[in-house]
Amino acid sequence: MRDQLSFYLNGELKTLRNVSPTQTLLRYLREDEKLCGTKEGCAEGDCGACTVMVSRLADDGSVKREAINACIRFLPSLEGTSVTTVEALSKSSEAPHLVQQKMIDHNGSQCGFCTPGFVMSLYTAYRNNVALPTGAANDLLAGNLCRCTGYGPILVAAKEIGEIAESVDQSEDDHSERAQLDEILHQDMIAFKHDGVEAFLPANSDQLAEIYAAHPEATIIAGATDVGLWVTKQHRHLQCVIFLDRVKDLASIKCKENELIIGAGATYSDATGVLAEAYPDLGELVRRIGALQVRNAGTIGGNIANGSPIGDMPPALIALGATLVLRHGDKRRELPLEKFFIDYGKQDRKTGEFVEAVRIPLTVPADDFRCYKISKRFDQDISALCGCFNIKIVDGVVCSARIAFGGMAGTPKRAASVEAALTGKPWVQDIIDVAMRAFADDFTPLSDMRASADYRLRTAQNLLMKYFLESKTPLSQTRLVGEGSVFA
Ligand SMILES: Cc1cc2nc3c(=O)[nH]c(=O)nc-3n(C[C@H](O)[C@H](O)[C@H](O)COP(=O)(O)OP(=O)(O)OC[C@H]3O[C@@H](n4cnc5c(N)ncnc54)[C@H](O)[C@@H]3O)c2cc1C
Ligand code: FES
Ligand code: FES
Repeated sequence: MRDQLSFYLNGELKTLRNVSPTQTLLRYLREDEKLCGTKEGCAEGDCGACTVMVSRLADDGSVKREAINACIRFLPSLEGTSVTTVEALSKSSEAPHLVQQKMIDHNGSQCGFCTPGFVMSLYTAYRNNVALPTGAANDLLAGNLCRCTGYGPILVAAKEIGEIAESVDQSEDDHSERAQLDEILHQDMIAFKHDGVEAFLPANSDQLAEIYAAHPEATIIAGATDVGLWVTKQHRHLQCVIFLDRVKDLASIKCKENELIIGAGATYSDATGVLAEAYPDLGELVRRIGALQVRNAGTIGGNIANGSPIGDMPPALIALGATLVLRHGDKRRELPLEKFFIDYGKQDRKTGEFVEAVRIPLTVPADDFRCYKISKRFDQDISALCGCFNIKIVDGVVCSARIAFGGMAGTPKRAASVEAALTGKPWVQDIIDVAMRAFADDFTPLSDMRASADYRLRTAQNLLMKYFLESKTPLSQTRLVGEGSVFA
């Protein structure tokens, strides 16, 4: 057992004791390290002004580099990583880094406040040797808000940075970063207490199971893209926290013949590839969850465990017939995902039990499965509603239907009456009209800032119509999608 945190900051080893477990990385950088290049815009993961690069060792020994939002990342989650802030990019203002120089060349910096965040997103892509044609740059920068709408020059700079990044040799830097990360890697549990707040950082899922069984009152922290806001916006004081960042076996993704098993700690970015390959529409839905910085941190397990009625993964996974794996100590149990959501704020999770994995069938034909996320903004926005359809039609007749919605009730929920109105019936307009009316039997949605009850109900009905039309039309004629999309 250890009681200290170790990570690199701009190439310098930091060993910290007695830190607040819920101190954000942003506060640490600005207040303790006086590295004020990293800005605070929103303190809720939306604007990207606080973007930094975090590097860690991947299973295959390579260095995995990701841009994250420092404002909602707690300091302990940096254990074993290397953090790079904008200050490390150049030694002086006379000798900017290539990424900064391209921003200067194209007048990509306007107010300057958001610029460090843009630079760090671009720098991370550069270090990952990523090409940035317009679609990819849009996706990369969707989490960096520029209020003065100066995106044009930034995108031109991004394209040029990507052209150079593709071929640049960074093996020397990689080697030294890998050696540093290797040096601070260990398998000991970390535990410490600060001002009465206890923190645990297990290094594998057996340690996690043991510590959570012993401290069932603890708050589990995965990517902190929800929990971070409890602290920065709701000013909640967490008394005992367990971080999942080091629990690598909980982040595993197993591809079997008939199913995908996604560990609860796998981030959206970890899982996007396999999900999009199996179900392109699901890949497209994930692309619209938050923005890259959020997807690099947020986990699928967190999206399920939080029990939110507007989380995007549950309706999609319910429609696919996914199964949830829960663990308490050495005991595991499984249940259909839809059964996990009992009522608003109430899930079927016993004291000391955590989400271990979700099992997603690979037996659904990709063309039968469609997801529709409806939000006010295309990128980086929470769903007003999210409808997911898995309908099997054989010889013009509906054999089976699994339809699930988020944003229509207090939990993610199946549309049982709509499913019944379709099953066994011919796949024709008249039956669709009848089934559309059945939505009112399944859902009594609420009005809130995202949408009115009437809008939600009518949109849900229309999404069934859309699915019907799309089943007869090539997707390219019905989808208005970004260039980075799998359908482009
Ligand atoms: C800017 C922004 C945009 C967002 N956009 C979207 C969006 O478009 N769609 C969407 O659905 N969500 C969105 N979110 C919400 C959030 O990103 C997701 O819900 C995310 O999946 C949460 O995962 P996490 O790992 O960050 O969870 P955390 O914040 O770490 O935890 C969330 C909850 O789950 C619990 N928990 C986490 N892991 C486990 C586990 N293994 N077992 C038991 N309990 C666990 C925690 O204790 C906590 O109660 C957004 C958030 C932000 C900040
Ligand atoms: S300050 Fe806005 S995302 Fe962090
Ligand atoms: S660069 Fe800051 S608002 Fe546009």
